Amino acid sequence: MNFTLTEEQEMLRKMVRDFAKNEVEPTAAERDEEERFDREIFNKMAELGLTGIPWPEEYGGIGSDFVSYVIAVEELSRVCASTGVTLSAHISLASWPIYKFGTEEQKKKYLTQLASGEALGAYALSEPGAGSDVSSMRTQAKLDGDHYVLNGSKVWITNGGVADIYVVFAKTDPNEGNRGISAFIVEKDTPGFTTGKKEKKLGIRSSPTTELIFEDCKIPKENLLGEEGKGFKVAMMTLDGGRNGIAAQAVGIAQGALDESVNYAKEREQFGKPIAHLQGISFKLADMATEIEASRLLTYQAAYLESEGLPYSKASAMAKLFAGDTAMKVTTEAVQVHGGYGYTKDYPVERYMRDAKITQIYEGTQEIQRLVVGRMVTQ
Ligand code: CAA
Ligand code: FAD
Repeated sequence: MNFTLTEEQEMLRKMVRDFAKNEVEPTAAERDEEERFDREIFNKMAELGLTGIPWPEEYGGIGSDFVSYVIAVEELSRVCASTGVTLSAHISLASWPIYKFGTEEQKKKYLTQLASGEALGAYALSEPGAGSDVSSMRTQAKLDGDHYVLNGSKVWITNGGVADIYVVFAKTDPNEGNRGISAFIVEKDTPGFTTGKKEKKLGIRSSPTTELIFEDCKIPKENLLGEEGKGFKVAMMTLDGGRNGIAAQAVGIAQGALDESVNYAKEREQFGKPIAHLQGISFKLADMATEIEASRLLTYQAAYLESEGLPYSKASAMAKLFAGDTAMKVTTEAVQVHGGYGYTKDYPVERYMRDAKITQIYEGTQEIQRLVVGRMVTQ
């Protein structure tokens, strides 16, 4: 067993940490306040190779692994959870299924653009009536000659409106339940495809979340991703890795909140000494640090399993479950350590607490992670 990172992984961590500190953190509070997505940050990540971390160089990636990828999401989320999820949705949800299920032509055309960061990706599964219950989706895709015609709408789409390439799921056979779902690649300017309402959110406010509308949207037949009727499995297998990206986001948010809390506790004096010297506070910090470390180990383990080609569905669901709950708990405690100041925008911990909540909801709620893990441990 080896718990040390490789030299390459350590170097990547340092590079992303410096980038996050210099280019992401300075505007994080302002972008949150203004609900503003900054494409320039994504472009700079592209210049550093971050947009294609796990993909082979022949497809525009940097040929690294999934541990490096989760380290990058963690380091970005440590200062700005919105930037963390931009990259996570781009790599895990949009690029991964094209890498895994795409034809050579699709990989050359779409994965290379995504990996190089020339294009930004999104993943459109959820609908107003189909969140946890994916199979009940209603968006339809009908084959008509050389095209599929898409009709319906998707909701809650991360990178919606700002993405260039969308992986979209629709029913090709409405009578076949999950076996009637297929996956498609849709380009942003396709006629009949528009962006609807942009959500106003509690947290990750500089990550745009929008509705997508398809009205007689014709997409070429060759943009079917994987086999017709196999889209549910494409969606589930994509989420297996995506959940670990969110686990990494949660670890980053929690670590950022702990860092702030430790600094504050060492500086803030009450009863004639720094509050860090009060056992009630240092015990909180100890619990926070311990739970973050456990979350990180689960996350890196799932990423390692994926990199090694070993099964990782359970590990990934466990990582997301544990890290998401840890992020919520740690950020709530971080506000507590800061007292009244923590409740104001003078310190970033209130933003961390608002951002943490989503890690318990998206890419499958905590209840769905328990369902996935529960099924696997009882089968
Ligand atoms: N890998 C491969 N196959 C899988 C699979 C997986 N991980 N999970 C399920 N399957 C297969 C099953 O083996 C089964 O196959 P057969 O029919 O051949 O036996 C088939 O898929 C149906 O599986 P289930 O019976 O388990 O399906 P279900 O309807 O009970 O749903 C569920 C299972 C886990 C609840 C699933 O619907 C689910 O994950 N729901 C949550 C949705 C979700 O996470 N959405 C996230 C949207 S993206 C997002 O949020 C983005 C963001 O954060 C940025
Ligand atoms: P519901 O499924 O209606 O759940 C409501 C409650 O019931 C939850 O507590 C849930 O856990 C519980 N519940 C449901 N079923 C069960 C069950 N079987 N057992 C126990 N409890 C259950 N989707 C995308 O496709 N792409 C994206 O990029 C994307 N990004 C998102 C970004 C944000 C900010 C948000 C808020 C959502 C995003 N989503 C995205 C959607 C997200 O994945 C769903 O919100 C999530 O899967 C839950 O679905 P729902 O909101 O419909 O809740």
